[in-house]
Amino acid sequence: MKTVVALGGEGIGVEVVDATCALLAAAGFPLRVLTPPHGEAAQRAHGTPVPDETKRLCGQADGILFGAAGGPASVAVITYLRWQQDAYANVRPIKYYEGAASPLADPRGIDFVMVRENMEGLYPAREGDLAELARAMPELRDRIGRRVGEYGEGRFAVKVVSRAGTERIARFACALARRRRARGRPGRITCVTKSNVLTRSDGFFQEVVEGVVRQHPDLAYEHSHVDDAARRLVRFPQAVDVVLCMNLYGDILSDLAAEAAGGLGIAPSGCFGDRWAYFESIHGSAPDIAGQGIANPTATILSAAMMLEHMGLAAEAERLEAAVARVYRERRHLPRDQGGTAGTKDFCAAVLKAL
Ligand code: NAI
Ligand code: MG
Repeated sequence: MKTVVALGGEGIGVEVVDATCALLAAAGFPLRVLTPPHGEAAQRAHGTPVPDETKRLCGQADGILFGAAGGPASVAVITYLRWQQDAYANVRPIKYYEGAASPLADPRGIDFVMVRENMEGLYPAREGDLAELARAMPELRDRIGRRVGEYGEGRFAVKVVSRAGTERIARFACALARRRRARGRPGRITCVTKSNVLTRSDGFFQEVVEGVVRQHPDLAYEHSHVDDAARRLVRFPQAVDVVLCMNLYGDILSDLAAEAAGGLGIAPSGCFGDRWAYFESIHGSAPDIAGQGIANPTATILSAAMMLEHMGLAAEAERLEAAVARVYRERRHLPRDQGGTAGTKDFCAAVLKAL
C-alpha cells in the first residue's frame, strides 16, 4: 500500500483533485490518499498555508498530487512544493489523444515532452528600480552603449543562468530522452533559447546543454531559437521529441504546445528535484468556471498517472492513461472544453468504466 498526499489548492484545482482521488479510490489501486490542510483553509485554522504536519506528510508520501494555485495562500503551497524543495525539472508531456479538441488540422502523432528549467532564469523574480541597478553597475551598457542610468525612472529584472543549474536540467532531459528512446522515440533534445540576442546568458545555456547532450552519443541534439520554436511547435509538432527550455520560454511554449494538442484541460505535468517530485496539471485555478462542476479533470488524472509511474505503479499508470485515451476515442463523455457536455464527475465515471 502506497501513500499519496493530495492538495487541491484553489478553484477548479480542488474540484479536479477531489474527482481524481475518488477515481483512484474506486479503481482499487493500492493507495491510501491523505488530504491534509493547506492553502486558505489552513491559513484560517492553523495560521499558515502549509502547516508543519502537512509538510511532514508530504515528506513521507510516495506521491504528491497538487491541483492549482490562485491567490496567495495557494501560491504558498507551490512555493513549498516547487521552490523550497528545489524541484528544478518541470516535465510536461504533450500528447494528442484521438478525439481531443485540437485546433490543428492533423494533430495525429503528437507525442513529445517539454522539459522546463524550473529554478533559474527570470522566474525567481529578482527585481528592483533602475536607479538601484544604475548605482550598483554604473558601467553596465546595452548593445548601443547606453548606460542604465540614462533611462530615467524604471524597473529591472535579473536573469540568472548557472552552470550547475543548466547541467542538471540537461542531464535530466537526457535521462528522459533515453527512457523514451527505449520505447521507440527518436532520442533527440531540442534546446530552446534566444542565444542570438542574449549571447552571454542564453548562449551559455545553449553551450552547456550541448556539451551535456554530446556526452550521450545515443542522443541527437538540435537548437531552436524560442520564436522559431513557437512556430515549429504549431506547424511541425510531430517532429520534436524532448524540448528543453529555459524557464520563462518553457512556461509560455508549454501552454502553446498543450493547446495545440487539445487544450489546457488535458495537459499534465510533474516537477522533479533530486529526491522529490510532485505532480499537477499545468492549468491554473480557472476562476471563470470554478464551482460549476464542469472543469475537465483529464490534466489531473494524467498527472496522477505520471505520479503512479514515478511511485513504481507503472501498470496502474498505463491502465489509467489507456482508460482516458479510450474515453476520448469514443467521444461520448467529454467535458465542455473538449466539445462535449460531461461534468467533472461524469467524465471520471466514464474513465472508471473504461478501466
Ligand atoms: P487558467 O489555466 O486558470 O485558465 C485559463 C483558461 O483555461 C480559462 O478560460 C479556464 O476556464 C480554462 N481552463 C483551465 N483549466 C481548465 C480545465 N481543467 N477545464 C476546462 N477549462 C479549463 O489560467 P488563468 O486564467 O490565466 O489563471 C487563473 C489563476 O490561476 C491565476 O491566479 C493564475 O496565477 C493561476 N495559475 C496557476 C497555475 C498553477 O497552479 N500551476 C498555472 C497557471 C495559472
Ligand atoms: Mg504557465
